[in-house]
Amino acid sequence: MNFLLTEEQKLIQQTAREFAEQEIAPSAIERDKNAEFPTEIVKKLAELGFMGMMVDPQYDGAGMDTVSYGLAMMEISKVDASVGVIMSVNNSLVTFGLEKYGSEFIKEKYLKPLSRGEKLGAFALSEPEAGSDATQQRTTAEKDGNFWVLNGMKNWITNGKNADIYIVIAQTNKELKHKGITAFIVEKGMEGFTQGVKEDKLGIRSSDTCSLSFNNVRIPQENVIWEVGKGFNFAMNTLNGGRYGIASQAVGIAMGAYEKALKYSKERKAFGTEIANHQAIQFKLADMATKIEAAKLLTLQACALKDAGQDYITQASMAKLFASETAVEVTREAVQILGGYGYVREYEVERMYRDAKITEIYEGTSEIQRIIIGRSILKN
Ligand code: CAA
Repeated sequence: MNFLLTEEQKLIQQTAREFAEQEIAPSAIERDKNAEFPTEIVKKLAELGFMGMMVDPQYDGAGMDTVSYGLAMMEISKVDASVGVIMSVNNSLVTFGLEKYGSEFIKEKYLKPLSRGEKLGAFALSEPEAGSDATQQRTTAEKDGNFWVLNGMKNWITNGKNADIYIVIAQTNKELKHKGITAFIVEKGMEGFTQGVKEDKLGIRSSDTCSLSFNNVRIPQENVIWEVGKGFNFAMNTLNGGRYGIASQAVGIAMGAYEKALKYSKERKAFGTEIANHQAIQFKLADMATKIEAAKLLTLQACALKDAGQDYITQASMAKLFASETAVEVTREAVQILGGYGYVREYEVERMYRDAKITEIYEGTSEIQRIIIGRSILKN
């Protein structure tokens, strides 16, 4: 068993850390305030190879391992979780699935520009009435010659406004239930495809989230991913990858809040000494540090299992569950340690507290993760 990072993994971690501190951190407060999408930052992430990190260089990806991806996600999310989720969706939910299940046509036409970061991707599974219970798809696609005609609506789509290429899951045969669901690629600009108003969110405000509408959108047959009827399995397999991505994001948020709280506690004085010298604060810091370490190990274990070609589904769910609940707890304690300062925008831990909450909701709520883990325990 080896807990040590390779030289290459350390280098990627360091590159991500420097980039995050120099290029992302300075504008994070303003972008959150104005709910402004980080267009220039995403371009620079692409130059670093961070938008298609795990994709084979044959398809213009960076060919890095999953552990490196997890480490980079942590460093980026440590300073700005909004940038983290934009990167995570493109890597885990879009390029990963297209490389694994896409045809050569799809890889040439869509995966390559997504891996280079020239195009941005989104993953559209959730609907107004199909969130956790994802088999209940109301969006339909009907075959018409060499095309599929798509109708319906999707909700809560990260990168929804800014994406160019969308993976859309739809019902193609209701009688077959989840075996009658298919995944398609839809391009921005296709006739009948529109994006809704950007949601005004509690956190990750610099990333964009919106609904999508499809009104008789004609999709060519070659844009079917994997096979007709495999869309639900495709979505589930893709989300497993998303879950260690979001776990990494949550670890990063917790790390950012913890470091700010630690620094503050060594500077701020109360009752004649720095507050770090009070046991009440030390106990909080000790619990925060311990939980972050545990969340990080669980997350990197899921990534390492995937790199080793082993089953990582349960570990990815455990990592997401534990890391997201850790992020909420650690950021809340960081606000507490900073007191009144923690409650104002300038000191940033309030943003991290707001950002942390979504990690318990998207890409499978904590309740869904417990279902997946529970079923796996009972099966084995
Ligand atoms: N990995 C691989 N396959 C899985 C799977 C997993 N984690 N979970 C289920 N499956 C497969 C099963 O093996 C089964 O396949 P077969 O029929 O071929 O054997 C099929 O899916 C159906 O499984 P179940 O009978 O278990 O289905 P269910 O309806 O009882 O429950 C669920 C499935 C796990 C609860 C699933 O609905 C689920 O994960 N829901 C949450 C959906 C979700 O995460 N949504 C997030 C939206 S995406 C998002 O947030 C994007 C964003 O923009 C950030």
